[in-house]
Amino acid sequence: MAAVGAQGPVPRKDPAAGVENRISGGVFLGTVIQGHTVNVNLPQTITPALGGLPPISDFFTGRDREIGELLQVLVPGGAQTAPASLVAGLAGIGKTELIVQTARRALQKQDWFPGGVLFVDMFGYDPERRLPPEHALDGLLRALGMPPQCIPPGLQDRSRLYRSALAALAGAGSRILVVLDNVSSADQARPLLPTDGRTAAVLSSRDTLDLGARLFELDVIDETSAIDMLDRAVREARGPGDTRVQDSPDEAAAIARSCAGLPLALRIAAALLADSPARPLSSLAQALEAEHLRLNRLRRQDRAVLSAFDLSYERLDPLHARVFQLLPLNAGPDISTQAAAVMADIDWYETEELLQDLARAHLIEPGRAWGRWRLHDLVRLYADEIGKNHIGADDREEARRSLYKYYIVMVSAAVYARRTFTIDRAEPFHPPRIPGGRFRSNEDAREWLDGERPNLMAAVTAPPLEGRRVWSVALAWFVGLHLSSKWLFDDLVTVTETVLAMSHLTNGSRGAEAKTLAALGRELEHHASHEKPDLRACAFDAQARALAIFREHHARKWEAWALVNFSRLFHGNQQLHKAREALAQAEAIFHELGDQGGLDAAHYVRDCLRLSDQV
Ligand SMILES: Nc1ncnc2c1ncn2[C@@H]1O[C@H](COP(=O)(O)OP(=O)(O)OP(=O)(O)O)[C@@H](O)[C@H]1O
Ligand SMILES: [Mg+2]
Repeated sequence: MAAVGAQGPVPRKDPAAGVENRISGGVFLGTVIQGHTVNVNLPQTITPALGGLPPISDFFTGRDREIGELLQVLVPGGAQTAPASLVAGLAGIGKTELIVQTARRALQKQDWFPGGVLFVDMFGYDPERRLPPEHALDGLLRALGMPPQCIPPGLQDRSRLYRSALAALAGAGSRILVVLDNVSSADQARPLLPTDGRTAAVLSSRDTLDLGARLFELDVIDETSAIDMLDRAVREARGPGDTRVQDSPDEAAAIARSCAGLPLALRIAAALLADSPARPLSSLAQALEAEHLRLNRLRRQDRAVLSAFDLSYERLDPLHARVFQLLPLNAGPDISTQAAAVMADIDWYETEELLQDLARAHLIEPGRAWGRWRLHDLVRLYADEIGKNHIGADDREEARRSLYKYYIVMVSAAVYARRTFTIDRAEPFHPPRIPGGRFRSNEDAREWLDGERPNLMAAVTAPPLEGRRVWSVALAWFVGLHLSSKWLFDDLVTVTETVLAMSHLTNGSRGAEAKTLAALGRELEHHASHEKPDLRACAFDAQARALAIFREHHARKWEAWALVNFSRLFHGNQQLHKAREALAQAEAIFHELGDQGGLDAAHYVRDCLRLSDQV
């Protein structure tokens, strides 16, 4: 019979049989021998063949705050103490390193864990090596000193025995720290969690698991720590004389940025440098600069960022995988649930659930505000790569079109407060039926525009939509109006320059481009002043290009309006002669067309010019 004994002495007496067993002095895990009178004196402490922590990195960097917080949770009887803590985060972010470093520090603290540590790698994300909990318990019970023949076969019995053993050890003053690395599901971990309230457990997972554990979500390391890590890793491998990282701070920073704060990527980069002592940092920095090759280059022998991500990605079902693959099509820094729903053509509520699942798997992260989502830079490259392989080019372009449609409808509605712009009459676009899809107030509209501005800028400056350049141009127009109303002049210039560049392409809708340029030019002119000469310069470029296209296409009325715009620009520049010249040309065209509205506008400008003459 297997038994777990608490600290003794524990006299057991059966007066009828006249049998007395005395067990004292420690904790006994194993077979109970029943005899007439048995006295067992156990050693004071059992030091089980505890799992043994894996080695730690010699150049561990940063993470002081995280270690401090984790240690707070492990203090015996502290205000923050929790029975279980879960460190969750993206593949390669440094979860294992953090929990092992923390465990080492905790073990060095007097009286925190006199019983030592039990460490198990659960291999949760490796389909071939994933450890079922009953197997893990078998190993844990053995490590605790339980004779193999006393270990029961079933999961429940093993779990019960293991918890009793931990409780007995804790009661006997041998509190143990249980460290479970790479847990992939709550079912895999739950039977291994102690329940005695004193034994502590620290787990790591790529998923935010529902275990009732104190949650620590691990983020990337900052650039300074990343460069420090590169430096220390290279010097560790090649000796203190290898000062390449210190000698090339700019290149080191570029490498750190390419690795986007992901320790796994930084370790690989450091190993690549250590492999070739003659290799200058600039060579690696350059090799990693090309985004489409970066993930492939972040590999060395058995380590690769790609394979680490693969193990997380392969756990996704097709629907989650599809949403994940589509997300990088949004060029901006984060994406709203609505935008993702429109792009994936899935119901809003379902999309929200899918995105939350992806965030729990740490393949995406919650963005700046609730309902927004972002991807780590390397994950973004990964998702895009996978997307290109799994979703046809046409389907990807269709998803991007849906996204642009959504942005155009929303931004136009927001700019014109609640009026909705229809992209083209032949193909009317119905705004997606989603909460927040229409603005209830100007305040709502403003908030939406402010939140989306980086995305809108990115969408405008991204390569134009194939076969629908007019949509990219329409988006630029509305975004330009918004920027102008917010006095965001640098962005307004960028948007105008983007449309200018598009208007030099030969195919596409050049009329729309010219009209947009004329409109953006007017916005720029509106804000131009002596302190902002670049706005006027950009306005001139925009109007000149618009005029050229109108002339090329014999769009006489538009040509005349562009000339009026020019006239005002020259006026603002104090080039009155040129202003009058342009105005005369405009008036001649308006006369020819019998356009009274145009003539009235031209007269107004002429009056302004006259006033200037008098000054
Ligand atoms: N703060 C750090 N300083 C130095 N090296 C680190 C740091 N964090 C992690 N590393 C190193 O980066 C690599 C990846 O870290 P680690 O294995 O802990 O990631 P992980 O989050 O556990 O990944 P996975 O999800 O694949 O298990 C390891 O070689 C580790 O030693
Ligand atoms: Mg790990």
